[in-house]
Amino acid sequence: MAGMDVFLDRLDPDMCVVTAAAGGEEAGCLVGFSSQCSMNPVRFVVWLSEVNRTFQVARSAEYLAVHLLARGQHGLAEVFGGQTGDDVDKFQQVRRRHEYGGAVVLEDVEAWFVGRVVERVTGGDHVGFVLDPVEWGGRETSGGPLLRLGDALTIEPGHPVD
Ligand SMILES: Cc1cc2nc3c(=O)[nH]c(=O)nc-3n(C[C@H](O)[C@H](O)[C@H](O)COP(=O)(O)O)c2cc1C
Repeated sequence: MAGMDVFLDRLDPDMCVVTAAAGGEEAGCLVGFSSQCSMNPVRFVVWLSEVNRTFQVARSAEYLAVHLLARGQHGLAEVFGGQTGDDVDKFQQVRRRHEYGGAVVLEDVEAWFVGRVVERVTGGDHVGFVLDPVEWGGRETSGGPLLRLGDALTIEPGHPVD
């Protein structure tokens, strides 16, 4: 569908790292497909590829955590977007803590929230996890640019797509 690239190539969304914990397992990956999807109540949807390790854990998770990175945090984006939890333990490489419902929250990010999964929606090869925020936080003083898709295009996705 080459013609659609005229549209898609113009998009430059903020990237986020989504983490999931369930059944004693933890996973997380870099995500470009995400957005607020409701105002009242506030809800946010993140789209996870069915092939990713993160999806495998998230499918039975009650809560997910979503993090926004600063533009300078390319290394953190590389850990979550350029490696797969099938092969490595990403959480050995980062600082994190456990928050509401056992959700895994990364330290040193710009902003984060933990959301209860209220809906799983099939989009195609990604599944949308609709989240109802239950806890949140972030830097008191911020305003610097966030890491966006254009900053992350050099990262080779860690999990093969097929
Ligand atoms: C720029 C970029 C955007 C990505 N967007 C998504 C996305 O929206 N959803 C998703 O599930 N994976 C996305 N990925 C792929 C995963 O982050 C990547 O394959 C990761 O290594 C999967 O790790 P896991 O197997 O441990 O879950 C993206 C990767 C990159 C580099």
